[in-house]
Amino acid sequence: MRAPLNETGATPIVPNTMKAYHFEAFNDALASLRLREDPMPSPGMGQVVVRMRATSLNYRDLLAASGQLPGIKPGLIPLSDGAGEVVAVGEAVYRVRPGDRVVAAFNPTWISGRPEVEFMRAMLGGTVDGVLAEYVMLDQQGLERLPDGLSFQEGATLPCAAVTAWSALHCGLPLLAGQTVLVQGTGGVSIFALQLAKSFGCRVIATTSSAEKAGRLRQLGADEVVNYAQVPEWGAAVRELTGGRGVDRVVEVGGPGTLEQSIGCTAFNAQIALVGFVGGLGAQINPRLLMRGGLSTHSIAVGSRTDLAKLLAAAEATQLRPVIDRVFAFSQAPDAYRHLQSRRHFGKVVINVD
Ligand SMILES: NC(=O)c1ccc[n+]([C@@H]2O[C@H](COP(=O)([O-])OP(=O)(O)OC[C@H]3O[C@@H](n4cnc5c(N)ncnc54)[C@H](OP(=O)(O)O)[C@@H]3O)[C@@H](O)[C@H]2O)c1
Repeated sequence: MRAPLNETGATPIVPNTMKAYHFEAFNDALASLRLREDPMPSPGMGQVVVRMRATSLNYRDLLAASGQLPGIKPGLIPLSDGAGEVVAVGEAVYRVRPGDRVVAAFNPTWISGRPEVEFMRAMLGGTVDGVLAEYVMLDQQGLERLPDGLSFQEGATLPCAAVTAWSALHCGLPLLAGQTVLVQGTGGVSIFALQLAKSFGCRVIATTSSAEKAGRLRQLGADEVVNYAQVPEWGAAVRELTGGRGVDRVVEVGGPGTLEQSIGCTAFNAQIALVGFVGGLGAQINPRLLMRGGLSTHSIAVGSRTDLAKLLAAAEATQLRPVIDRVFAFSQAPDAYRHLQSRRHFGKVVINVD
């Protein structure tokens, strides 16, 4: 193991043990999320120990907590998204140095290009240990440097939600300034999609179930907001707001429960980025709707490390400020899950690891 120096040349004090949360079993009440004292990881060839400073939650972490994520096993350290500081490196580490501020890629083996099935076997906090720990050992290939302008808390919000929003806007058909994007609800992915689409010069129509959140969406730059709880035919309302033409891109987080209305409010040659299913998986859709004029769909699997790097560059260039709803202390991690579950949040829920 190479001597753990930080940027000022000082040796950080790395203890022999550290605290990490583990799922002991899976249930909805999160009763099985246990804080344990674990041995300090020691980095091998190509590996890096990161002192986590902040982590953030995504909808998939609720699925993980209830054992619904494919491949999840008891004992796992949860959460994919975290930012921190490199404190020790193993042999042959050349991408980062002790003292570097870094952010972990959602999927450490997917470096670039299209997703392959084997990449899905190494998802942090899903199939391999995640970041809800004081210290985490990661492969150097699964890290990017955090831009100076972003805090650890802000950096921790990016790997899943922001990269997914980036992919939804960029990995299919090119998105052009002046085009109209529909984003759904006020969760992590949708708020990043709103912010990114506005920074590219797009018009954004947003939906939400809350009048209070509608005001906050407008403050963030949404051109139009439709309350889907008050307007059951929200798709028709969205189409009307485009003068009947329809939207060019949908960031579809609702899933089968919203897809039919999403298709109904698209313009000719639009694209729907298929992201999630917060609206439930129960509904059926008529497959004929998919033959609508020039419509294409693109299914999203977060993104590669290269997508994370592009997102970080865009965040720096556009001075993106992630919207953090609430920050919980490390000892309150189960409360952070409950808060996300309540759907009262607007943007991201963060857990500090200080
Ligand atoms: N494919 C991928 O790569 C990928 C990556 C990341 C996330 N996802 C998926 O994307 C979805 C969103 O993830 P997230 O972490 O951003 O979720 P989140 O932060 O938990 O977002 C929840 C929000 O979704 C909104 N919502 C719920 N039901 C809705 C409906 N019927 N129509 C419109 N909005 C609705 C609500 O907003 P309001 O309170 O404003 O109504 C709710 O607060 C999840 O299904 C997740 O699994 C997929």
